[in-house]
Amino acid sequence: MADLTKFFNSSVKQTDPEVSTIIRNEIKRMAEGLEMIPSENVVSLAVLNALGSVFTNKYSEGYPHKRYYGGNENVDAVETIAIERAKKLFGVPHANVQPYSGSPANLAVYFAVCEPGDTVMGLNLPDGGHLTHGWKVNFSAKYYKSVPYHVKPDGYIDLDEVRKLAHEHKPKLIWCGATAYVREFPFKELGEIADEVNAYFAADIAHIAGLIAGNAHVSPVPYAHVITTTTHKTLRGPRGAMIMTTQKGLSKDPQLAEKIDRAIFPGLQGGPHDHQTAAIAVTLGEALKPEFAVYAKQIVANNKALGKTMMENEVKLVSNGSDNHMQLIDLTPFGKGKGVFVQEALDAAHITVNKNTIPADPSSPFYPSGIRLGTPAITTRGMKENEMELIGKWIAEIVNEIAPKYNLPEDKTKSEYVASVQSEIKNNAVVQRVKSEVMKLCEKFPLYTTLDY
Ligand SMILES: Cc1ncc(COP(=O)(O)O)c(C=O)c1O
Repeated sequence: MADLTKFFNSSVKQTDPEVSTIIRNEIKRMAEGLEMIPSENVVSLAVLNALGSVFTNKYSEGYPHKRYYGGNENVDAVETIAIERAKKLFGVPHANVQPYSGSPANLAVYFAVCEPGDTVMGLNLPDGGHLTHGWKVNFSAKYYKSVPYHVKPDGYIDLDEVRKLAHEHKPKLIWCGATAYVREFPFKELGEIADEVNAYFAADIAHIAGLIAGNAHVSPVPYAHVITTTTHKTLRGPRGAMIMTTQKGLSKDPQLAEKIDRAIFPGLQGGPHDHQTAAIAVTLGEALKPEFAVYAKQIVANNKALGKTMMENEVKLVSNGSDNHMQLIDLTPFGKGKGVFVQEALDAAHITVNKNTIPADPSSPFYPSGIRLGTPAITTRGMKENEMELIGKWIAEIVNEIAPKYNLPEDKTKSEYVASVQSEIKNNAVVQRVKSEVMKLCEKFPLYTTLDY
């Protein structure tokens, strides 16, 4: 094999100390903190290596064995493996592994089954739905007529409302999926409603793909026509996405898989990211192993233990608990719009979460009244129920310390106020004590000990 070191130095460290320092800082941040944003994870070294492979050099517009460029025999091989593994893992007849990420995958579904101006339904964003399911500032509401549905005060999707709206508005497409939903998705019921009005039913399993793969959440495959997912959340792969067509989808429209493929290329994208495809293939190989089901079940067990501890320590949770990998803390007992202060405090204590709206949030998406957090990444690091108890107590201490102390002004000085209390929050004695305990815990669960940047 040619010796490329003659032409290139081998590492970022040697060629670009500036970027190398930033990457090392990020490894340190991850290693010394608890990553609890539920859409994040820690990929294996194998996934990282495949992602950093020479496939990044290649162009391969088209699909395996039908490319517009030469030299694609290895890309064909790796994309075919990714497709076959996706089909096997989820039990579907067709998979497209080329979407650059989750949002373009969802756009492709609209492109395949709707015409501009058609009516679509999805879970309202402040109720936990995703931007691409019809939120007003997104393409999905600008080019389609969006009729959002909601969750009930108990946190469950309001199926009566969905049925009523579907019969009234006759949507072309109904979405099920969310970025902030703590209960098992009612795929069966929503699939029945879609059938009643002859709509396409799309399940966006971005958050829970890993749980479904590991039999820790019901699968939408018998009920949905098409399934989209990101590959970088509970599935624990590189950033990327897949679109799967089910047997039910092919029965409704035998051309559906072809329409999806054509929507991705040439409809929306050019060359696929082949390094990403290689890393998705490795991810799916990992997810097919029995250990992955153990991991998926541990994510849920950890999340249950975390929720129980937080509730025992005076923290209110949306829906009083969770069936999946995430929890939504409801901060409204302390007032409205408190998410920003609690996120700031947890960040300072090296517990990374995000502020989030809660159902019927009295505040706004930018200053919401909740916190979203979850267990996929800390479970990957090997933490179990005992650690969840510690973490749940620390989170509760910080919530109960910080949320009552700070009140968002009603007028336009919100951001100035938040900036003015930042250093006080950071230096709060409880926050500082929790931070040192978090760092001690993290030392016991190391991350990427062999990385060298
Ligand atoms: C349910 C759901 N769908 C789609 C997406 C979009 O994925 P991406 O951020 O990769 O575009 C997300 C991301 O948060 C999501 O939660």
